[in-house]
Amino acid sequence: MRLLFLGDLVGRTGRQAAIEILPSLVEKHRLDFVIVNGENAAAGFGITEEILQDVLDAGADVVTTGNHVWDQRDTLVYIERQERLLRPVNFPSGAPGRGANLFTARNGAQVLVMNAMGRVFMDSLDDPFTAVDMVLESSPLGRVADAIVIDMHAEATSEKQAMAHFADGRASLVVGTHTHVPTADHQILPGGTAYMSDAGMCGDYDSVLGMEKDEPVSRFLRKIPSGRFTPAKGTATVCGVAVEIDDATGLALDIAPLRIGGQLSQTLPPSWTQG
Ligand SMILES: [Fe+2]
Ligand SMILES: [Fe+2]
Repeated sequence: MRLLFLGDLVGRTGRQAAIEILPSLVEKHRLDFVIVNGENAAAGFGITEEILQDVLDAGADVVTTGNHVWDQRDTLVYIERQERLLRPVNFPSGAPGRGANLFTARNGAQVLVMNAMGRVFMDSLDDPFTAVDMVLESSPLGRVADAIVIDMHAEATSEKQAMAHFADGRASLVVGTHTHVPTADHQILPGGTAYMSDAGMCGDYDSVLGMEKDEPVSRFLRKIPSGRFTPAKGTATVCGVAVEIDDATGLALDIAPLRIGGQLSQTLPPSWTQG
């Protein structure tokens, strides 16, 4: 099966670019399943139920989040009825919503999607390794799930790599989000799990992590806030990673990064194909 993961949607330009291109990507690449991280979709902070529905209508099967999950206060309520919206699995028990769920892909496969959040340089939730392990043990790859994807929402690449090796052979894909810059380390680990430290955001890369540049630069210089962070409005690059998964084992056969449009568009210029 073919699965696509898109990184954090940032603001209107990021979510619109993803919403516009998703239907054609699904058709062109015959995608069986699509996951999108939506934690910054609503003006950079959280996701509203209306935006969630727009992303699902465009072809996403699941929307994951991260530290910004509760930025829109309504999310605390509507997440209970929205099974396709996930929050980090390692929130203390009693948190609304769910951190992992099984979904049926277009090809009929059962896909387990999990959202976990790191603790290094971030708000310290419960141990993400224990939380992920519990889900993997209760819903093993090949028995309960035909494919398993873990969105590891973390600041430190070390923690993301550690999670990937921890899950190697037990998940189809471990992909990092939160840092908003795509990394060049997409690979298939020895146990067969595909991995990329950061899928990259869907947003305007003429920015600081998707936000208008002036305020973040000013805060680094002056150490005094002088305004709000607002999403940059330029053309977005849609960033993500695609994985081909072995139907028999649930492990990865191929992994390819995706960058479409905007500053980071990745296609080689035509001159590179000539003599
Ligand atoms: Fe984010
Ligand atoms: Fe985040």
